[in-house]
Amino acid sequence: MKTVGLGRTGEQVSQLALGCMIMGTTTDEQESVRIINRYTYAGGNFLDTANCYAWFTRPDATGAESEELLGRWFAATGRRDEVFLATKGSAMVWDRDGVWRDGAVDWALAGSRFEGTAAATLHRAIDESLRRLRTDHIDLYYVHVDSMATPLEETLQALADIVAAGKARYIGWSNVRTWRLERIRQLCAQHGWPAPVALQQQHSYLRPKAGVDTPSIVGPEQLDYLRHHDDLTLVAFSPILKGVYDSAAKRVGHWAMDNYTGPDAETRLAAVAKVAAEVGATPNQVVLAWLLRSTPTVIPLVGPRTLEQYDSAAAALDVELSDDQLALLDAAGA
Ligand SMILES: NC(=O)c1ccc[n+]([C@@H]2O[C@H](COP(=O)([O-])OP(=O)(O)OC[C@H]3O[C@@H](n4cnc5c(N)ncnc54)[C@H](OP(=O)(O)O)[C@@H]3O)[C@@H](O)[C@H]2O)c1
Repeated sequence: MKTVGLGRTGEQVSQLALGCMIMGTTTDEQESVRIINRYTYAGGNFLDTANCYAWFTRPDATGAESEELLGRWFAATGRRDEVFLATKGSAMVWDRDGVWRDGAVDWALAGSRFEGTAAATLHRAIDESLRRLRTDHIDLYYVHVDSMATPLEETLQALADIVAAGKARYIGWSNVRTWRLERIRQLCAQHGWPAPVALQQQHSYLRPKAGVDTPSIVGPEQLDYLRHHDDLTLVAFSPILKGVYDSAAKRVGHWAMDNYTGPDAETRLAAVAKVAAEVGATPNQVVLAWLLRSTPTVIPLVGPRTLEQYDSAAAALDVELSDDQLALLDAAGA
């Protein structure tokens, strides 16, 4: 697997990152280990988890499952040093039991109960992550969900202390608006604090429909910002939007489509389908291949539920797109 530079850190990470969110819950341990082994033996080194993965998959999950599973994998294989390990803090929910409504998570309520980014919270969270992951350092530590509840100075000082203590090597940010990123970077420059080197956002081929206003999805302004700040690399979560590109039936009523449905999406879905037929790949694979060739640099962060899904995503690394096909995909839109 090819590698790409992470910001201007000099670190090389694999061009495809592996999301471990549902490992240990939706995906059982055996299948999870098969996926991690397949990915790492193919040269993949960029693993992504969080301190809350994945309490929201079922009422009896705690959120410790993914990190604990990775900790067992590191202990069993001794391969911790081969991996560029990313985890996150701030989005664990207090009173998890109270946010379930009729078997489903009330996300509006859950979002109001995130632990947040106070210094004491982050210091505790990273220590707990290190213990679960059975390691003495995290390579990339993200603020999982940007928060206005704590002054940025407090959060950034805490992250600087975490880096100075050797507990994290680099920091990143997720679910954040561009103006906040700029403010974060200015404060870091002003105080000599480590600035984020990675931005983890939802980003795919479909573009959010008019009226969507969320800090989590990359929009044109954020893309423009990234083009002008190559010290910050975009790590794209949900790059295939839960696999909806391959199946019209799956798209119908799927919540992953909520932010996208409309004429622009229909036109872009048709473009992907056309190119997929031409190159003999699936639409999901074409989307990943397009992301891998986009500017600014995008590292797709896939979240396969099964080994078969991982293999299907990995095959996108070998999908060739001609200049004409790339131009068609770029230009498609209502
Ligand atoms: N920073 C954040 O706030 C944030 C948010 C979300 C995720 N993440 C990170 O990003 C990673 C990936 O995100 P994601 O899980 O949303 O990504 P994704 O790859 O777009 O979606 C994963 C889901 O798509 C389906 N799928 C995966 N591969 C498929 C394939 N080849 N064909 C058909 N369907 C396929 C599976 O669902 P089915 O059950 O339908 O098969 C799977 O559970 C996570 O593991 C996590 O590390 C971060």
